[in-house]
Amino acid sequence: MKRLLAGLKPSGELTLGSYIGGIKQSVIYQQEYESYIFVPDLHSITVPQDPTILKERIKKNVALYLACGIDPDKNTIYLQSDNLYHTNLSWIFECLTYMGEASRMTQYKDKASKNKNVSVGLFTYPILMTADILLYDIDYVAVGIDQKQHVELARNLAERFNNRFGNTFTVPNPLIPKIGAKIMDLQNPTKKMSKSEGDTKGTILLLDSEEIIRKKIMSAVTDSDNKILYDPENKPGISNLLTIYSALKDITMEQTVKHFENMNYGSLKKEVADVVVDALTNIQQKYNEIINSTIVDEILDKGKEKVIKIAKAKYEEALKKVGLGR
Ligand code: TRP
Repeated sequence: MKRLLAGLKPSGELTLGSYIGGIKQSVIYQQEYESYIFVPDLHSITVPQDPTILKERIKKNVALYLACGIDPDKNTIYLQSDNLYHTNLSWIFECLTYMGEASRMTQYKDKASKNKNVSVGLFTYPILMTADILLYDIDYVAVGIDQKQHVELARNLAERFNNRFGNTFTVPNPLIPKIGAKIMDLQNPTKKMSKSEGDTKGTILLLDSEEIIRKKIMSAVTDSDNKILYDPENKPGISNLLTIYSALKDITMEQTVKHFENMNYGSLKKEVADVVVDALTNIQQKYNEIINSTIVDEILDKGKEKVIKIAKAKYEEALKKVGLGR
């Protein structure tokens, strides 16, 4: 079985968009791959975080993943900061990365151009990501398109190390979901659904109450021609609602459009709200059981023990090849 790695970011609240676009995909991957899922908490502090919220969110998001169907028996689940080998190996790769190549990372350039004070950590972020991947002989890295360049850096660094010091690291491949339904903001359907500070009217959080979910969907922005068609360019609002419905019902877009043929926008919204409420109440019930138990800690402890063993062996091999230590 090929080995897959996915990151579970602790810096944002999980939304309906994260569920449909990412978590559901991981639930499928766990059947086909030996899956590793980890919380890159060290990466999250490359931008300022509130310590109390960060700590809470790490466990909350792991619990939500479990509630969404991530099976702890099929996945190795762990916390990055629980395993010091990530940062240790990252240093070795920092010394193999050229300033020019790190400076070309578009995510860094983008963030640096928008903020006055960016941290050095934000600059070296992709190198720590390289260590996250290469420590575990990962074949596939499950990422969105925005992270593809970082996986390419990991490939280049793996090859560079192997050429210079002898074969040590598996060269990873990015795994980008082909269809990967992208869910848009309900108020601004040309923008991806995400949790930004302040206004959350267009974003459904996985832990929103039924009342709030219904309110947000019923007030979703649509258009005025009252025809239910899938046309993301001209009818982004309606197309987004159709995407949500087809993803949660696990049916094709053709079947979805057929189902809503001759209905009006009000009935479409009502049905979409029903399926979302159905899916999320189910997840929330499981979440409440998990978060009120010691399951998350037990799973992270078990993961920690397993990954430290693997990472230690890989790190010590690299250390020796580089000529470090005694
Ligand atoms: N950079 C990733 C993101 O923004 C998170 C991440 C960190 C990651 N390390 C990783 C993802 C290693 C996959 C593998 O989504």
